[in-house]
Amino acid sequence: MRTALVLFATLPLAACAGRQSVLDPQGLQSSQILHTIFIFLTVAAAVWIAVVVVLGVSMLRRKRPADQPLALHQGFERTSGRVVFVLGLATLVIVLGLSIVSYAGQRTIFAKDENALTLKIIGHQWWWEVRYEADSPHRSFVTANEIRIPTGQPVKVELESADVIHSFWVPSLTGKMDLITGQKNELQFTAKNAGVYRGQCAEFCGLQHAHMAFAVLALPPDEFGRWRDHENQSANSPTDQLGKQGEALFRARGCALCHNISGTLAGGQLGPDLTHIGSRTTIAAGTLPNTPATLAAWIADPQHIKPGTLMPKMPLQSGELIAILHYLEQLK
Ligand code: CUA
Repeated sequence: MRTALVLFATLPLAACAGRQSVLDPQGLQSSQILHTIFIFLTVAAAVWIAVVVVLGVSMLRRKRPADQPLALHQGFERTSGRVVFVLGLATLVIVLGLSIVSYAGQRTIFAKDENALTLKIIGHQWWWEVRYEADSPHRSFVTANEIRIPTGQPVKVELESADVIHSFWVPSLTGKMDLITGQKNELQFTAKNAGVYRGQCAEFCGLQHAHMAFAVLALPPDEFGRWRDHENQSANSPTDQLGKQGEALFRARGCALCHNISGTLAGGQLGPDLTHIGSRTTIAAGTLPNTPATLAAWIADPQHIKPGTLMPKMPLQSGELIAILHYLEQLK
């Protein structure tokens, strides 16, 4: 019995920490949101407890009905009037107070910093296009489903959609913001600590909405700088015969019509950019860890893993699949 109770208590508490939790904030904005939640929760709990106590006391001390229920007692009426007035005033003060707390919190949550690192994020059914745009095109690159940011520096994400409405949400770092076709929304956040945080589309956007996740990797600034320099470079050329064969098959079998690999003839723009696919932690928008086995399963039959996904099942011989897999694995 005791074990069962402990286990039962652990289940909800386990949700309080981890890489996707509003209760374990790792960003300036998420800390502010949690702070605001606690103030609201404390005030609401205090009001609720007061109401329940008064209700309980009045039930215990209930008097017998008077002989003349319609008779008014002036003294009692006057006291009741005062109590109602004071409670009405208290309600007004509490509502105004919580509004002020809420607006004050928004100063942090919606703060704009001119020196923020700017990313453009475009929602697709069902993956995330991430564009690091710099003044010089040589410093700009595109990736997918994984956002790397420096810790301690504000990051501005410009949010757009290529099809339906999606919603960008990284609970550990900040609140939600929708991605809407034809409109540019903005959100700024700052990661306080290095780590991997999970993000999830928070607006129902079709069959695979639940499999539209992404990872935010907050890195120390120097490590972020090294990653960015590396990401700016074109894809690695295959070093061996099997890899070269894979590169040719990638074009011959139609992969290149949808996917871009910088520095090669593959220039498709419909699906995720694969220039550095080998260095990403997940595939299929956070659905699977990026391993040779999962990548092979995905290429062989994406519809089995993510029914409805826009990536079709390509007819590949097993030798061709192995060559393409070997090529993609080298794109670190
Ligand atoms: Cu995109 Cu839900």
